[in-house]
This record gives sequence, structure tokens and C-alpha cells, in this order.
Amino acid sequence: MQQSEIKKRIGERAAMLVESGMTIGLGTGTTATAFIQSLAERNKLKNLNITCVATSVESERLALSLGLCCVSIDSVAEIDATFDGADEVDEKRRLIKGAGGALLREKILATASDKLVVMVDEQKLVKHLGKAKLPVEVIPFGHRFTMANLIALGFTKIELRQNSDGSTFVTDNHNFIYDIYYNQLFAEPEKENEKICKIPGVVETGFFFDFTGPIVVGRADGSVVLM
Ligand code: A5P
Repeated sequence: MQQSEIKKRIGERAAMLVESGMTIGLGTGTTATAFIQSLAERNKLKNLNITCVATSVESERLALSLGLCCVSIDSVAEIDATFDGADEVDEKRRLIKGAGGALLREKILATASDKLVVMVDEQKLVKHLGKAKLPVEVIPFGHRFTMANLIALGFTKIELRQNSDGSTFVTDNHNFIYDIYYNQLFAEPEKENEKICKIPGVVETGFFFDFTGPIVVGRADGSVVLM
């Protein structure tokens, strides 16, 4: 089955978890996009009376264009669940996220939410994190020195993220992203995360730990299971 069809099914299944009156965090990326589309359809059919907070300008634009009600994160008292994709999920339900560049807002929303519903295809389930690139959001001021400090930690292959036209990718928070290609497995992701976060200029990493909520997994045969 094609990836787009698998993502559509994941989005449909995840949208069924949304109940009337909820405040929902909208993730970013292709799987989150499929979810937003399904959620908007379900909302039209069932008039769910939901309020949404988006993790990116892009997701907010999409949600608004599909008729979903989006508000600022500062105007909600609580978020029932955030629905988001991931780049890797390990056996301890730890994640790497951020290939779409929205990791900081994604982590803020995930942390503010009662649940993080992770939506992935089965290829993203791994034993240990490390195959996917690890994005690190940094402030632009002095970012070359920030990169030098990342290299000093032993991460030798690091790239400043660029747009397809060669310009530097800038996040919704006006920051840059360094992608770490570790090319080996993280033995202790929490410890690596701690070391990276101690570097001045680092805003956030793509490691996500300690989140509760189901993982909606799409399989190549078209089935979708909750883990
Ligand atoms: C966005 O910044 C990311 O965290 C995405 O949620 C993640 O990269 C998964 O994206 P896809 O659903 O497009 O694979």
C-alpha cells in the first residue's frame, strides 16, 4: 500500500479518538496533515465543537482553511491531547521528532497536553533511537560556536538545515536547526539529550521522552493498530 494511503488511514483512525468539546493540539508533518484533514471531515459530520492549537504556522493555516477553530496556546487552560507524527519511536516509547522543523512548538504542546497521540507507520518503530537524524533547534546568535560545541560532544556529522533553494531554514520561532547524523544507536538518549541541552544557544532537541498516550501505527497491509 502507498505511504499516502497508509497515512490517510492513520489519520482517520486517530481522528476517531477525538471527542466532542475537546481542546486538541495539531502536530506538523505529512501524517499530522492527514490527521487534520480527517479531523476536519469528522468535525463537519459530527459538529464536535472542538478547539485546536497548532504546532506550526503551516498546520494552523491548513486547519483554518478546512474550517477548524484554531486559537493561540495562551488562550487555552488545558489541552486534552496533541496528535503528532514522529521520525522514530523506540521500545520504551521514546521519540525522535523534528524532521518538519516544528520540534520546539511540538514539544511545548506535547508537554502541555494530557496525552500525546503519536501517529506513525510501522517502519518508524525501532529497537533503539539513532537511525533518524536528530534535529537541534538553536538560536541564530553565535550558532557556529554552538555547532562547535555539538561537535565537541562527539557528533561529527552535523548539518545546518537548508531550504531547497539553498537558503537557511528558519523555524516559526526565528531559529535555525542543526541536524545531527549520529549513524549509530543512542545507548542512553536521556544522557545525550542532557549534554546537548546544556550548550548555550541550544533551544531544544528532537528527543521526546516520558509522554503518555497511544501510538497509532499504520501497517503496510493497510491495517491500523493502537499500541
Ligand atoms: C515535524 O517537525 C516533525 O516532528 C514531524 O512530526 C515528524 O517529522 C514526522 O513527520 P511525517 O509525518 O511527515 O513523517
